[in-house]
Amino acid sequence: MSDKPVILILGAGGQVGTELQRSFAEAGEVTTWDRKIADLSEAEVLRPLIRQLQPEIILNAAAYTAVDRAETEPDLAMTINGVAPRVLAEEAAKLDALLVHYSTDYVFDGSKKSPWVESDATNPLNTYGRTKLAGERAIQEVGGKHLVFRTSWVYGPHGHNFLRTMLRLGSERDELKIVDDQFGAPTSSLAIADATRAIVDTLKANAADYGVYHMTCGGETTWRRFAEEIFAQHMWPDGRKAPQVIPISSSEYPTPAMRPANSVLSNEKLQATFGIALPDWQSALSETMKVIASKDAAVAGI
Ligand SMILES: NC(=O)c1ccc[n+]([C@@H]2O[C@H](COP(=O)([O-])OP(=O)(O)OC[C@H]3O[C@@H](n4cnc5c(N)ncnc54)[C@H](OP(=O)(O)O)[C@@H]3O)[C@@H](O)[C@H]2O)c1
Repeated sequence: MSDKPVILILGAGGQVGTELQRSFAEAGEVTTWDRKIADLSEAEVLRPLIRQLQPEIILNAAAYTAVDRAETEPDLAMTINGVAPRVLAEEAAKLDALLVHYSTDYVFDGSKKSPWVESDATNPLNTYGRTKLAGERAIQEVGGKHLVFRTSWVYGPHGHNFLRTMLRLGSERDELKIVDDQFGAPTSSLAIADATRAIVDTLKANAADYGVYHMTCGGETTWRRFAEEIFAQHMWPDGRKAPQVIPISSSEYPTPAMRPANSVLSNEKLQATFGIALPDWQSALSETMKVIASKDAAVAGI
């Protein structure tokens, strides 16, 4: 890889894409594409664009991520999550470029009682999970230089996510009912982007290191306990108390897409291969809260 590689970031305006722009800003000549430049639902448009740019590193943070809506738009979700990654992988292979792609804990059915490892059998419960699994498999079939990072419960300072929803609802309501029977690891977009940069920097041209890895923050929790931690860490304005969080079961909050009961992922392979571990989920949350607070202060002119 050259000293100043051409780096392409797709999905640059998403949660992870935004943070990849920050983490990779000094890593090379960065080009960012959003849906207006390269629409992954027209996967073939990617080929001439990539051939023209000739990137050495492709970071694909673009995805159809509306888990519930995917149940009614399965074809669109499959094109973006399953077909476009194959096109990216084929074009990357032609250029001998590295493709970094993200996948999800929702490739598993949640039935295991301990953290899932990469070699565990996949069995997605919903359309989103099936489309993301198709994307993983397509990239592996093409077989070029690739890293597929399965992550989970992504949140960050930007975009639509559980943290920002909780901060909004928490300022409006005195009581919130939150699902308490799904186990996973909230993972910050900041931590994902920083770990990706560290791995790309240390990656040796060792074919054995390419493949699928789990990449989540450390520890595990439920959505209810995640909400309580958000409210515990948030600086409430004078006169405002954190809302009371009432635990409920998934059956009391029906959604179009089923979610796995346990989607905690083991990060041992990532650590053993690259010596990289993401922070535990509470510390990562605290870092993200600091970023949000400083953004809010900047907007308020403090
Ligand atoms: N969010 C999670 O909880 C979660 C959990 C596990 C894994 N992941 C995976 O992590 C990766 C990053 O997710 P994220 O949370 O950063 O997602 P995100 O915030 O929803 O961002 C997705 C990005 O993809 C773009 N996109 C969607 N459809 C597109 C299309 N047809 N053409 C081009 N771009 C398109 C979006 O653009 P617009 O803004 O224009 O829509 C957005 O910039 C994805 O692979 C996702 O599957 C996410």
